[in-house]
Amino acid sequence: MAKIIAMMNQKGGVGKTTSSVNLAACLAVAEKKTLLIDLDPQGNGSISIGLSKDKFAGKNIYHALIGQIGLKEAIYESELPYFDICPSDNNLSGAEIELVSLFARESKLKNAFKAIEKDYDYIIIDCPPSLGLLTVNALNAAHSYIVPMQTEFLAMEGLAQLLNTVKLIRSSLNPDLELDGILLTMYDSRSGLHKQVANEIKTHFGDVVFETIIPRNVKLAECPSFGKPIILYDIESKGSEAYLALAKELILKERFKGKSKENSNEVKNNAEVLPEEVLLNLIPNIESINTNGMHP
Ligand SMILES: Nc1ncnc2c1ncn2[C@@H]1O[C@H](COP(=O)(O)OP(=O)(O)O)[C@@H](O)[C@H]1O
Ligand SMILES: [Mg+2]
Repeated sequence: MAKIIAMMNQKGGVGKTTSSVNLAACLAVAEKKTLLIDLDPQGNGSISIGLSKDKFAGKNIYHALIGQIGLKEAIYESELPYFDICPSDNNLSGAEIELVSLFARESKLKNAFKAIEKDYDYIIIDCPPSLGLLTVNALNAAHSYIVPMQTEFLAMEGLAQLLNTVKLIRSSLNPDLELDGILLTMYDSRSGLHKQVANEIKTHFGDVVFETIIPRNVKLAECPSFGKPIILYDIESKGSEAYLALAKELILKERFKGKSKENSNEVKNNAEVLPEEVLLNLIPNIESINTNGMHP
């Protein structure tokens, strides 16, 4: 059975698509059978791995969500073995409205997964930059979620809204939804501000932040225009190194889950406390840091 992960943040430009595509490709390289679901009508993820729009115009995630076809029919192989994609295009922007009138509209993706989840080790969902019905479908279908966050001034802005949405989904639709972690992206080690933001976020959120930090790396920005994930574009780049490390961290996290409870921190230890609630309590601290200590 696949582990289903939603890459979500309602902010645009924080690295959701870059992280979805490249994490998925790196999991595939580790011989984990991986499916990338492009759930953003912009379709950047689909283009990033070199699928031509004509190829999937009639059969993509949109058609599967509205029930015209089975999800299996909307899945395409990539250049990499073990790495498949279910693409999207502009049509998907209509789905948000079309789904509203359908029965069980929040569960369309979850139900569509039933036919294919046994075929994969991982399913990564690249969410759109909103907390609308598509993201709700992703969070309902997922076992866990990752929040990419740029190491920038006001990185935390919007996080309370995001966590409140997750809380709502957890209480109404998907009680087992877990946070895999906050992923710091586009980090520039030469920037004092980036260092400060990364340190503060790590200090406050502790184990909830992935140890792997994704550096700002021009190769990561270039590779989509060549239709390749970073590991096929430049295996020696810092970007490849980082996403391979992230894949490894995720795989190990899963393997050792629940095995080191006695020496883990409060967030992991206290099963009664939902991570979102713990995190929500920490946000005012971060915001005061953002507005007092880090204002340029
Ligand atoms: N680590 C990185 N280094 C350099 N450029 C990056 C990096 N991550 C993302 N980008 C670039 O930043 C832009 C936004 O990233 P993207 O992954 O599309 O964000 P989102 O999906 O959250 O909107 C894209 O042009 C992408 O190529
Ligand atoms: Mg995107």
